[in-house]
Amino acid sequence: MSDAQDARVIRIEGLGKTFAGGFEALKDIDLDIHRGEILALLGPNGAGKTTLISVICGLVNPTHGRVLIDGYDNVRQFRQARARIGLVPQELTNDAFIRVWDTVSFSRGLFGKPRDPAHIEKVLRSLSLWEKRNNRLITLSGGMKRRVLIAKALAHEPEILFLDEPTAGVDVALRRDMWEVVRQLRDSGVTIILTTHYIEEAEEMADRIGVIRAGELVLVEDKQALMQQLGRKELTLHLRDPLDGVPPTLSQHRLTLTEDGHALVYAYDAEADGDDTGIARLLADLEAAGIAVKDLHTRQSSLEEIFVNLVKEAA
Ligand SMILES: Nc1ncnc2c1ncn2[C@@H]1O[C@H](COP(=O)(O)OP(=O)(O)OP(=O)(O)O)[C@@H](O)[C@H]1O
Ligand SMILES: [Mg+2]
Repeated sequence: MSDAQDARVIRIEGLGKTFAGGFEALKDIDLDIHRGEILALLGPNGAGKTTLISVICGLVNPTHGRVLIDGYDNVRQFRQARARIGLVPQELTNDAFIRVWDTVSFSRGLFGKPRDPAHIEKVLRSLSLWEKRNNRLITLSGGMKRRVLIAKALAHEPEILFLDEPTAGVDVALRRDMWEVVRQLRDSGVTIILTTHYIEEAEEMADRIGVIRAGELVLVEDKQALMQQLGRKELTLHLRDPLDGVPPTLSQHRLTLTEDGHALVYAYDAEADGDDTGIARLLADLEAAGIAVKDLHTRQSSLEEIFVNLVKEAA
């Protein structure tokens, strides 16, 4: 554990996937996943999130590059790598008539782990499924079925859990329950990678956020750092008389002049230390420079906006 390499529970190096037929679904992905973190992968439909997860889990072979799970190559040492991973797939496919307890126990057996009813009980209790352990899946609600999938993924005590759109189509109350479950898992030491379309979910849950667009990882950043971007604000000052350029006396302010010269845009940090946004000084300097302001307005970029801009198709 003291080994620095140990912090990277998953290493993804130069990973690419081109499907038969020539479609390039993943392009040269490099990513380290840290032990014990929650990483949220955001991206529009078809961006490659499920493909990336499938390649990491060894269900789809990469065209180039490699994935190491705890140091094990996930193709050449598939069994060792796969044993460390639990996967909750995007699609719900279950045998409708099997009972909760049986399907979860069976999943453990698939990994060659010895029977351990105490572990199965712990998993079912943690997901509030204990009361339903003897129910057939067909008698469960959609949200409970999703939780059964999580229980199945946890049955063999994986140290890494992939959740592919765990809360798609799940109501707000249940989504909050699932977040709580995922947090508890993280607190118990499990590394979690989840995909989601809900920016709110990434904001709520993730330690880091990765954005995938058209098979490329266009951003991976600590959530806190992203939230600081979220705090960035812009003040637009509409001028009575257009300017040819930003006057030198105003050069210390972060100002840009709009193309038509009719407005100055001032970027500032809404969460600046000591509440000093610099606006008071800017207005005083404008007055001293004899620049009359006709109107002004402010706007704040949201995580949603950052995300939408990132995933926008390059023109
Ligand atoms: N077996 C396959 N053969 C050919 N193309 C595929 C195959 N599987 C996926 N693709 C394509 O790869 C791209 C990425 O698909 P993927 O399922 O990874 O997207 P996603 O980001 O998970 O989307 P969603 O948000 O809809 O779940 C899509 O264009 C898809 O059509
Ligand atoms: Mg998907």
